[in-house]
Formats: sequence, structure tokens, C-alpha cells
Amino acid sequence: KYLQENDLGEECKELLTTLPSEKGWITTHLYQYQGFWFAPIILQGVLSCQKHFQALDTDILLVTSPKSGTTWLKALSFALINRNKYPNIYINHPLLTTNPHELVPFWEIGLYCDKDLIPDLNTLSPPRIFSTHLSYESLPKSVKDSTCKVVYLCRDPKDTFVSYWHFINKLRSKNSETIPLEEAFERFCRGVNPYGPIWEHVLGYWKKSLENSEKVMFLKYEEMKMKPYFYLKEIANFLECPFSKEEESKGVVDDILNLCSFEKLSNLEVNKTGKMSFDIENKCFFRLGRVGDWKNLLTTEMIEHINTITEKKLVKHGLSF
Ligand code: A3P
Repeated sequence: KYLQENDLGEECKELLTTLPSEKGWITTHLYQYQGFWFAPIILQGVLSCQKHFQALDTDILLVTSPKSGTTWLKALSFALINRNKYPNIYINHPLLTTNPHELVPFWEIGLYCDKDLIPDLNTLSPPRIFSTHLSYESLPKSVKDSTCKVVYLCRDPKDTFVSYWHFINKLRSKNSETIPLEEAFERFCRGVNPYGPIWEHVLGYWKKSLENSEKVMFLKYEEMKMKPYFYLKEIANFLECPFSKEEESKGVVDDILNLCSFEKLSNLEVNKTGKMSFDIENKCFFRLGRVGDWKNLLTTEMIEHINTITEKKLVKHGLSF
């Protein structure tokens, strides 16, 4: 279904005829909507969640650009929020048998992607946790109007690109050839990749987090890798479920970090052999889980080029990678 462009509602089909389009990465085309690029089937989900999602003040929304650490953030947030429900993290914890993407559903590539189905989310007990790759500007209005919390995680565009290139080639390999690195890089730098441009995506949430730090928490993958204990506690504070001194001394923070670590999650049977909806193998979400793999793939010219864009677009706003 992920690959199909013909299963679209009338509203989406009509909209597509009015939007700028370019060659796609998986689907044949990408379309630019509200400043960002989408595959048609994803745009279908975007329109539906913008129209139908009703936020509750207790909701938690996890936002990332693709390949910025979504899987990790989902696992951490799920384990954090549900730590009283599953006190023994090594026995019977849902993360041991279920991929994080199943536990924290996406909107536009999950709950809202079927044109004929509006999900009933009222049955979910609060706090509900959802995720999306949407830009801040494109979030459903009720998210902005409510006091629900938004956790945004970004990553150095170089590593995000490299991770995405590997990911997309795994998805494409069954049906078509891999995208040459140079071509993918050129398109990524122009921002013509799903949910791109990454710089504007990051900036939207960065600005919002400065404006309203109770609403949007802004995190970087690199910093979380460096100081996971500190940042998990920060996320807990932000979500108003701080760790008690007793929990800390009992090792609850460490337990959650261990359970959600790349090593632990990627070696679980469910993540080695399981499949997600859209027929994507769970193992595609676990590759290296390291900072700086771009050094192994990008040429000096590429590094200079992408760094220049980052400097031009982000540094003046106080952001760097
Ligand atoms: P690499 O391809 O660089 O290894 P997303 O979850 O947004 O799709 O991002 C995927 C990236 O996050 C991949 O990066 C993947 O290996 C990494 N990742 C997945 N699980 C992780 C975890 N538990 N901790 C740290 N990184 C993780």
C-alpha cells in the first residue's frame, strides 16, 4: 500500500493536481504541500489527520524528520510513560515483543492513511502517545490550541541523509534499483525528499521551543547519545512525570535506557524477523545507531556542501550540529 498511488480520496487527488511535483524516492512523485514534500499516499494521511485529529490536553506527540531517531524516541517515551504499568522491565514488557512503531502509532503513515477510515482514538486511555513527521506549521490545529506536549528530536542532517539513503534502498531493492548516492544527495540538499527540507523542519520546532518551552521540547540525537541518562530525565520532567529519588536509586532510569538501547532492541526476535504494516521489515529501523557514520560515505565536497547549507540556514538561529 505504501507504494500505491491510486488509493487516494477525491480531495487528495484534486489537491495533487494543484501542487508542485518532482520525482519521488519510493513512489514515482513527491508533491510539495505547505512547504514540505510528500508521497501521495502520505499526503492522504496528512489531510485526514489535519481534518480529524482532536487533541487532548494530556496527549503526547513525538515528532521527528525520518531517520532522526524516531524508533528510539518512541521506545523511550513508551517505557517512561508506562513505567508503573510494567514495573519489571525484563519480564512481560511490551517492548520485548512489539516494535516501538506499533506501540506508538504514526498519524499520517499509520492511523490516518486509509481514506475510508477515521480512527476512533477516544478509546485510548490517557496519556495517549502519537507520532508524526509533520512540520510544526502543518500540525493539526487542535494540537496547537491544546496544552498537549510535543517532543521533537532532530539529528545532524549528514547522518539523517546517510541513514535515509540506506533505508530507502532497502525499501526499494525489491522493486527497483538503488538510488545513486550523488543523485539522492543532490535532491536531499534541495529539500526534495519526503518531509524535506530538513532544515526548515528543524527550524520550525526550534523556534517554537524557544517561544514556548512548555509546549515543545527540542532534542538532538547526538546529545541524547552522549548523555542519555540526563535527557531521559529531562523528557520525564517535560512530560510532567519526573523520576523520584527512589526510582533513580532503584535504577529505573538505567533500566529504561537499557531496554531501549540500540543493542537491546535490535537483537530482539521481533525486531530481527517481524514486519510492520506496509510490509516494512522491523529490522530496517535498526542499522548502526551511531553518530558520525556520514564520514564513511560522504565525500569532502559533499560534507562541505551540506555543512554550508546548515550554517546558512541554522547557525544564525543559534543552532548547529
Ligand atoms: P542509522 O541508520 O544511522 O543506524 P528512525 O527511527 O527515525 O527511522 O531512525 C533510524 C535511525 O535510528 C537509524 O540510524 C537506526 O539505526 C537508529 N536507531 C534505531 N533504534 C535506535 C536506538 N534504540 N538507539 C539509537 N539509535 C537507534
